[in-house]
Amino acid sequence: MKLFIILRMADQKFLSSEEIIALEEKYGCRNYSPVPVALSRGEGVFVWDVEGKKYYDFLSAYSAVNQGHCHPRIVEALKKQADQLTLVSRAFYSDRLGKYEKFMTSLLGYDRLLPMNTGVEGGESACKIARKWGYDVKKIPYGQAKIIFADGNFWGRTLSAISSSTDPSCYQGFAPHMPGFKTVPYNDIPALEKELQDPTVAAFMVEPIQGEAGVVIPDVGYLRKVRELCTKYNVLWISDEVQTGLGRTGKLLASQHEGVKPDIVILGKALSGGVFPVSAVLANNEVMNVITPGTHGSTYGGNPLACAVATEAINVLLDEKLSERAAQLEGVLREELEKIPKDKVTEVRGRGLMFAMVVHDSISAYDVVLRLRDAGLLTKTTHGQVIRLAPPLVITEDQLRDGASIIRKVFQSFNK
Ligand SMILES: Cc1ncc(COP(=O)(O)O)c(C=O)c1O
Repeated sequence: MKLFIILRMADQKFLSSEEIIALEEKYGCRNYSPVPVALSRGEGVFVWDVEGKKYYDFLSAYSAVNQGHCHPRIVEALKKQADQLTLVSRAFYSDRLGKYEKFMTSLLGYDRLLPMNTGVEGGESACKIARKWGYDVKKIPYGQAKIIFADGNFWGRTLSAISSSTDPSCYQGFAPHMPGFKTVPYNDIPALEKELQDPTVAAFMVEPIQGEAGVVIPDVGYLRKVRELCTKYNVLWISDEVQTGLGRTGKLLASQHEGVKPDIVILGKALSGGVFPVSAVLANNEVMNVITPGTHGSTYGGNPLACAVATEAINVLLDEKLSERAAQLEGVLREELEKIPKDKVTEVRGRGLMFAMVVHDSISAYDVVLRLRDAGLLTKTTHGQVIRLAPPLVITEDQLRDGASIIRKVFQSFNK
């Protein structure tokens, strides 16, 4: 007890970045290897470490912070609701949930919304809905429903999510895996059509742009073709817009770039502007109504705090025209990044403000990330030599050019 009291007192004392990192190293589960920087404050496109050094955030918590860090309107909505009512569970109604559901369904053009908390729960929920729809509506023989995914997909860390993964670091060591899951190559329509002909396929779940795989953008027309094939073979198209959704690619939903509508949409991350875990699944009646009382749920899903925060986060997105801003700034970021010589960055790809640069094999991408940190810009690698660039959508053109010039200077520093 005495030791515990001393520990509680020590808790109040200022800790340096090094001490903070050492604490996590010693007491935390080692399921991540963060870039060594310890942050304690954020505002808009900037974050500060505990020593007071300022950085551009060019990762945005993997596109959760589209509205910028600690957006005052979202934080205010959180505080106001926190004083009023935070959780009732779904045992009772709250004065927030129905309004939020009406707001989101009218915005995105679906009949119903299922509220969840994290992105992966959104994916799990979508898979459950698809299987149930497969049995109740498509009349797939019970126990045989299949869901098709794309190679390189990433939708979280639960057993179902890793069962569909083609990345050994995600799935290896965690067998047995979920049955009824299959993958096809991404951006490969003939391979998809072959699978969809199987009458036991209930759904195809896909990211409109693969984020974790390294911002992999399919050919123009891919999503339109996915829509056509899913309709033709009576298969549900589940669009995982957890990362691409809510303005990141220059539209509210990335599927809108091709003017097509998925049967099920999954949202997360920016749905709360990085303030709180909020996710959602949207679908029309004929799909969502397969879920009946007692067949699915979550204690925190749809809690009043989440509804207040998500409503304000979306209002900010709309009022500040953040999708439009992402679309306008796409060309600026591309132009700036393409100034980096090809012997340093072999490829730049992106849509809206969801970008990746592929670092030449002669340079370690992780070393680039460390030098960027030292120069005042934070981001991270994915899959070895790919560095993601996804600043908050509130970034101004001047800030974007400034951030890009930091990136260029860091690459120049590899000459020496
Ligand atoms: C496309 C996509 N789907 C789902 C998820 C899972 O979201 P969460 O980490 O909130 O469970 C992620 C996370 O990065 C994602 O990128």
